[in-house]
Amino acid sequence: MSKVAVYPGSFDPFTRGHMNIIDRGIKVFDKVIVAVAHNKSKNTIFTLEERVQILQTLFEGRKDVEVDSFEGLLVDYVVKRGTNVVLRGMRTVSDFEYELQMALANKTLNNEVETVFMVTDSEFSHISSSVIKEVVSLNGSASHMVPDIVESKLRDKLLNS
Ligand code: PNS
Repeated sequence: MSKVAVYPGSFDPFTRGHMNIIDRGIKVFDKVIVAVAHNKSKNTIFTLEERVQILQTLFEGRKDVEVDSFEGLLVDYVVKRGTNVVLRGMRTVSDFEYELQMALANKTLNNEVETVFMVTDSEFSHISSSVIKEVVSLNGSASHMVPDIVESKLRDKLLNS
């Protein structure tokens, strides 16, 4: 039986840390569905469509990585996609509390859905969307933190608007 994991997130922006989890996730699962959350309450830099498009460009032609978006409860989306695994990355101890809360909430909502955590490789553990935004808006290089396409789109958004 092929095993599929849903890797959900805001991906605003998508980082090299996220890529690290996907690269390693596909060594454990047959397929990883990168699921971009449609979170109306969050003020995002990129629209949902922009985030999905960036990911589609990055994973074009890949059979083991699918890009999708979802609205509503994550557990419902996971069931809809015919799996029971949520993949999440954890960078630092400070991520733990948030991730624990979310995994427990999801378990309460659907006890069949399991969250699998991977610890982000240490070279990516300092990367966060707030650091990226600050570096780019101050005209610094974020190439070690985000893929090139993300950096160029961030520059357009944060410096040319
Ligand atoms: O990258 P993020 O912002 O940490 O991702 C958080 C995300 C999108 C995975 C989380 O907010 C989520 O699952 N949202 C969907 C709504 C939901 O299911 N909420 C209940 C569980 S907390």
